[in-house]
This record gives sequence, structure tokens and C-alpha cells, in this order.
Amino acid sequence: MESPTAPVVKDRSSVAVGLTKLDPWARELIVDPLSKEPLTEGAAGDCLMSAYGRQYPIVDGIFDLRVLNNETTRDQRLWKEGQRAYENAARAAQSLDPPVDPVELDAMRRIYNDIPVEGDCLDVGGHQGRLRAFLAPDQRYISCDPFREVFHGVEHCPHLLKTYPFLLEPVNFVCCDAEFLPFRSCCFQTVHMRSVVDHFLNPELAFHEAYRVLRSGGSLIVGLFVEGGRTGQIGAMRRAKELAKAALPLVGVKRFEDHHIWHPTYDQLTRLVSDCGFEISSVRWQEGYAGGVCYIKGTKRLGVAKQRS
Ligand SMILES: C[S@@+](CC[C@H](N)C(=O)[O-])C[C@H]1O[C@@H](n2cnc3c(N)ncnc32)[C@H](O)[C@@H]1O
Repeated sequence: MESPTAPVVKDRSSVAVGLTKLDPWARELIVDPLSKEPLTEGAAGDCLMSAYGRQYPIVDGIFDLRVLNNETTRDQRLWKEGQRAYENAARAAQSLDPPVDPVELDAMRRIYNDIPVEGDCLDVGGHQGRLRAFLAPDQRYISCDPFREVFHGVEHCPHLLKTYPFLLEPVNFVCCDAEFLPFRSCCFQTVHMRSVVDHFLNPELAFHEAYRVLRSGGSLIVGLFVEGGRTGQIGAMRRAKELAKAALPLVGVKRFEDHHIWHPTYDQLTRLVSDCGFEISSVRWQEGYAGGVCYIKGTKRLGVAKQRS
């Protein structure tokens, strides 16, 4: 098959230009997020076209293959509002450029020593690809995320760049939704999802998609804050705090509004991961966060089927 060239970055004035790329091997994997069939590039190089009539823009060299687009149902509204709030908060946090906490970084390093990210990796909701801090230098990696402007302003963040200097090196990046992955089936060894499952519109669909794009024997790594930690027991203090947080927006205080879609307990999370076809092979708890952040590795088990109800 002819090897398509990487998309041409056109807008030189954009602050994010040059921070993303699509290597030929990564371009080879891209398909329509709905039909999973190949896409062709428009003559002007500014869009991708499906065989059935759908088009997707290419913006600043980024393939924008998002499908989630509507705010009609309650769930859709919740996700869109949550994503908007997340993007605004992320922009505000980045403009402050606080030093990265070395203790948290060490804690994550210990996690990835125990649960290494192996082989070709798709980082779903991978943001700027900070996971690269824990990968081998030549490891194949794609970050995919619906936050298309996620790289804007990165070069003005000296603290961030001190910890993650590779953020100025181009990373394979595709703009898309976890629920509609625009990648061929069976082509990754690891699908990584850190601090994202609680953001998804539909975590179950996202896990089914992870299953599809993983090779046989491939692994799903999920890192997430779970309610009640290992035991799932939620203390009185936490309950009171959550109640207060839920009540504040009703009296006009929006600052603490919770935009996450789902707050699973450890049992709920592991049950969903298992039901979607993964054999849980490792679990580690990150130091800090009151013991609430777990990392789960699930290995793809062939033959997953809908359970009889
Ligand atoms: C808290 S950040 C985590 C970023 C990164 N994984 C990390 O650990 O640094 C949550 C990310 O989930 C992304 N996200 C939200 N909804 C998503 C969806 N439906 N599919 C994929 N990513 C999504 C957001 O854009 C954001 O980058």
C-alpha cells in the first residue's frame, strides 16, 4: 500500500504549530471513526473524506475526527458542558504554569515501573502526551483527545517544560472521541486511559473500542480516582463535602461544580473492565490522593460476548 505523507502544517502563526505530527505508520492506522473504513484526503489537503459522504476537517495539521457534536439529550449536554469546563480550566491552569509536583511524578514513575506501558501505545484522552515521560525513547505512541487546542501556549510554560521538555517535540496526535476511535482494529499493544474514564460520555463504549483496537494479548491500562478507595467505603466527611458541592450550584456558586460523568467505586470499575473483555492482571494504588487512585491492567481476552440477561 502506498504510504501517505504526514499532513502539512499550514498555519505558521498558530502557537501550537509543529507540536503535533502524524508519522506514516500512524497515518496508516487512521480510518473513519464510524464505518472504520479508510479515509481519503481532499484535494486541498484541508479535509478527510469517507466513502459514504462524511467529511472531517484538518486544522493546523490535526485530523479532527470527532463525532460527538450535539447537546440534545441530558447526557450529551452533561458531556459537552463538562468538556468545555475542563478545557477552560486547563487553559487557566496552564497560564499560571505552576511547578510540577515532584512527589506525584515519583509516585507515577513507581506505578509505570510496576505496570509498564508496552509496545505500540494509544493514549486515549492523552492530552499533550505527557505519558511520554514514562515510555522508551523509540516507543510508538499516539495521543488522541477531543481537546484540539491542547498544545496552544505550551511553549510559554517554563515550569511545565522543565519537567516535560519533550512537549516541544512533535507527537502523533489525533483529535477524536474514545467512543468512536478512528483506528484500525487489532493494531496496538497497549491502550492507556489515565484520569479520563470519568470524563467519557460512555465509558462502556470506550472500553469496547479499546478492546477492538488492541491486538490479541494486548493490555488496557486504566488509571482513575475511585470512590472510597480499595474498600469503596465513603466516609461521612467525604459524603458531606460531596453534598455541599452538589448544592452550591443551586445557589449560584458554580466554581466547584462537578463536571465528571461518572464516579465509579473500585468494584464498579473493575466489573465494567472485565465485562468488556479484559482479564485483570495487575492493580496498583498510587501514593497520595488518600489512597483513592488505582491503576488497573487488563489483558484482552478473546471471545468476549454480550452476557445473557
Ligand atoms: C484529566 S485529563 C487527563 C489527561 C491525560 N490522560 C493525563 O493523564 O494527563 C482528561 C482528558 O480527557 C479528555 N476527554 C474528555 N472526554 C473524552 C472523550 N469522550 N474521549 C476521549 N477523551 C476525552 C479531555 O479532553 C482531557 O484531555
